[in-house]
Amino acid sequence: MAEYDYDVLVIGAGPGGYVAAIRAAQLGLKTACAEGRETLGGTCLNVGCIPSKALLHGSEKFEEAVNGTFASYGIKTGPVELDLSAMQQQKLDSVKSLTGGIEFLFKKNKVTWLKGYATFEDAHSVTVAGQKVSAKHIVIATGSSVTPLPGVTVDNDAGVVVDSTGALALNRVPDHMVVIGGGVIGLELGSVWRRLGAKVTVVEYLDQLLPGMDGDVRREAAKIFKKQGMALKLSTKVTGVAVDGGKATLTVEPSAGGAAETIEADCVLVAIGRKPNTDGLGLDKIGLELNKRGQIETDHDFRTKVDGVWAIGDVIPGPMLAHKAEDEGIAVAENIAGLTGIVNHDVIPGVVYTFPEFAGVGLTQEAALEKAGGDQSKIKVSKFPMLANSRAKTNHEPDGFVKVIADAQTDRVLGVWAIASVAGTMIAEAALAMEFGATSEDIAYTCHAHPTHSEALKEAAMGIREKPIHM
Ligand code: FAD
Ligand code: NAI
Repeated sequence: MAEYDYDVLVIGAGPGGYVAAIRAAQLGLKTACAEGRETLGGTCLNVGCIPSKALLHGSEKFEEAVNGTFASYGIKTGPVELDLSAMQQQKLDSVKSLTGGIEFLFKKNKVTWLKGYATFEDAHSVTVAGQKVSAKHIVIATGSSVTPLPGVTVDNDAGVVVDSTGALALNRVPDHMVVIGGGVIGLELGSVWRRLGAKVTVVEYLDQLLPGMDGDVRREAAKIFKKQGMALKLSTKVTGVAVDGGKATLTVEPSAGGAAETIEADCVLVAIGRKPNTDGLGLDKIGLELNKRGQIETDHDFRTKVDGVWAIGDVIPGPMLAHKAEDEGIAVAENIAGLTGIVNHDVIPGVVYTFPEFAGVGLTQEAALEKAGGDQSKIKVSKFPMLANSRAKTNHEPDGFVKVIADAQTDRVLGVWAIASVAGTMIAEAALAMEFGATSEDIAYTCHAHPTHSEALKEAAMGIREKPIHM
């Protein structure tokens, strides 16, 4: 009889966990995956990436129809009406089809879905739905959940003070939505409801939106979102939210302290970050401690300090992104199978899927300068505006730019940032180039199809050593 029930047991079926489980099974390991949700796919497929993109896509089409964009292409429309329940239904259809797709892939690859939440008994066994299951290797991929704002109670069913899950499921367009937190979720979901007719105010603690992105991108983001009609209250903190019936009154004050004021809203979205899911895992039973940020630390191979226990995705340090979790899922399975699974954490792209999209990979200009010891002559920066890109101009998409940051001596690309309608797609090329250790010259001498938005990356790269042509 085998020593363990499974070779690999993955806890959590988000993009990290389900990918790890499938890859482990593909490599011939007997694999199970515990998931407590009714459907597979984790945060990303159920209440994250996919439903948010379904609403972003639908609301973008709606706005194009009502704000004169169609008319600018010579398309006349009759009166345009929003059918919110149909828009919500197409979102649910996408979620259902994709989560069902993972269930199909589990069956196809012979991954056993253990339905329920797993708790460690020891380093090689867990209890799931009252049943003890053992495995030689256990991968923790339990993801993250919404960070609460102290003193503010979220009630997604009531729909007045909501988190991202509630904001994805509203059955009415708010009159005034106040978003607490000008990060990725606040701007994506704030954009959805603004496009559908809500007045949206974003209250951000810091003096700029989108922490972690390049400074130029952050400044430009503020201009673009303001132009689109969002009200931004930067350097402002929320000190309380009082709810009375269907109305909320927020008390805000300058982050640095000062006079308080109140804002009335009929919907408040709390989007101040996410925290790793470790409660109820029984980590104390295996002696696994968390770091100061509540995360599980691993080595480069995704091994924790406990032999046989591995961890990946949002529950470990690094950006909380689905593709980062997926790549770690593949790498951990390969490492468990005795192969060499590597993730290059220096080249993880990030994208904000608003219109235009905001994307980046590698170092920000600020970080590159800091790494160069503050010596400006050690880095080169080139920016090419989308206004000078023929395809963006033809499509009436003047906002944005591509920015390339390179090492002045080696010409190696250190970072690329883009604001463009398709920046999320464009950034893949930059990631590939950086993964191959490309120089700006390599990108500049690569033939790019015309007319495409991607030519803006080529021209920005040309600007590092020579000059772009179209500027
Ligand atoms: P998760 O997806 O959180 O999955 C973990 C799973 O583990 C969950 O299903 C949970 O039920 C399960 N679980 C937890 N504890 C246990 C247990 N004890 N036993 C069994 N199961 C357990 N990222 C992007 O890259 N692009 C995007 O466009 C994007 N959009 C987002 C939009 C929103 C609104 C949100 C909230 C997030 C978004 N993200 C996006 C982030 C992305 O969803 C996460 O980075 C990603 O889901 C992390 O994957 P994971 O596998 O680590 O964890
Ligand atoms: P975030 O970290 O992106 O932004 C949170 C913002 O809230 C920050 O700007 C922060 O300064 C601000 N904040 C914190 N406390 C505050 C307070 N009391 N008052 C006002 N502002 C306050 O977190 P967010 O938007 O919740 O997203 C969570 C995670 O989900 C992110 O790490 C992101 O990686 C992931 N995600 C990714 C998406 C994508 O890739 N397109 C889409 C949505 C989420």
